[in-house]
Amino acid sequence: MIKLELVNESTFKKIVDMKLPPEQNAFVAPNVVSLAQAWLCYDNARPYSVCNDDNVVGFIMLDWDEGERSVGIWRFMIAPEHQGKGYGRKALEATIKLACEAGTIDFLHLDYVQGNQIARDLYYSLGFRENGDIEDGEIIMILPLTDNPKLGMLTADDDDMEDFIELIKSEKEAGTSIPFEFEDSSYIEKAIEDGLVKRFTLMGDTIGLSINGVILMGNQNLSYLEEARQRL
Ligand SMILES: CC(C)(COP(=O)(O)OP(=O)(O)OC[C@H]1O[C@@H](n2cnc3c(N)ncnc32)[C@H](O)[C@@H]1OP(=O)(O)O)[C@@H](O)C(=O)NCCC(=O)NCCS
Repeated sequence: MIKLELVNESTFKKIVDMKLPPEQNAFVAPNVVSLAQAWLCYDNARPYSVCNDDNVVGFIMLDWDEGERSVGIWRFMIAPEHQGKGYGRKALEATIKLACEAGTIDFLHLDYVQGNQIARDLYYSLGFRENGDIEDGEIIMILPLTDNPKLGMLTADDDDMEDFIELIKSEKEAGTSIPFEFEDSSYIEKAIEDGLVKRFTLMGDTIGLSINGVILMGNQNLSYLEEARQRL
């Protein structure tokens, strides 16, 4: 039976030693790099051994983000000698089950390198769909777990700036009156640096932000304003 077990003292060497053949190397980073990143992103990274009974047959690392209510499949491989035996599919099914059962996750996301048709078809068969986005040359796929997503809230970082500028621009075009805090992008950048900015999300999309407690919620999503206030 396939199960996921957090990488531990007795499995990490097998995970580090698990290498792909050259033609698959471009599809996923070496596991030693993933484990180092798991340490750097300690709060969100969940590196699992894929075990068939007690045998380690693969590696999957999740980006578990309850703020955004998302789980990213960050890294995924089945050892070459175990590929094509159905373990990859079962490992993904176990991942989806884990996310469903948590009750705090609205969607899964992943990206794949263009041309990795086997992985892409596998994800597709499990319900993942391309959403049209490409990040660092990799194609993004999403699997919604609910039709009724809840409000996500995260402390913003530099990467969110582009979304904020777009949201503020479209709100201005829609005639929303914009509090002065949101008029000056260098002010927002400084507030992000100081940890004073929150990003509100729905299925990963930015629908609002707050600076020091002042909220700008997109006019399409005003029904979430009260909840956003309460969450701050
Ligand atoms: C992608 C990967 C994880 C799939 O794992 P796996 O255990 O081999 O997959 P499974 O045995 O569960 O098979 C899943 C499907 O892929 C197909 N498949 C697997 N290997 C295949 C191969 N070499 N050629 C053609 N089809 C293949 C299977 O037929 C199966 O399809 P089906 O369920 O419709 O019959 C594995 O190939 C891998 O580690 N690849 C290299 C790393 C990688 O690409 N990771 C993904 C990064 S996004």
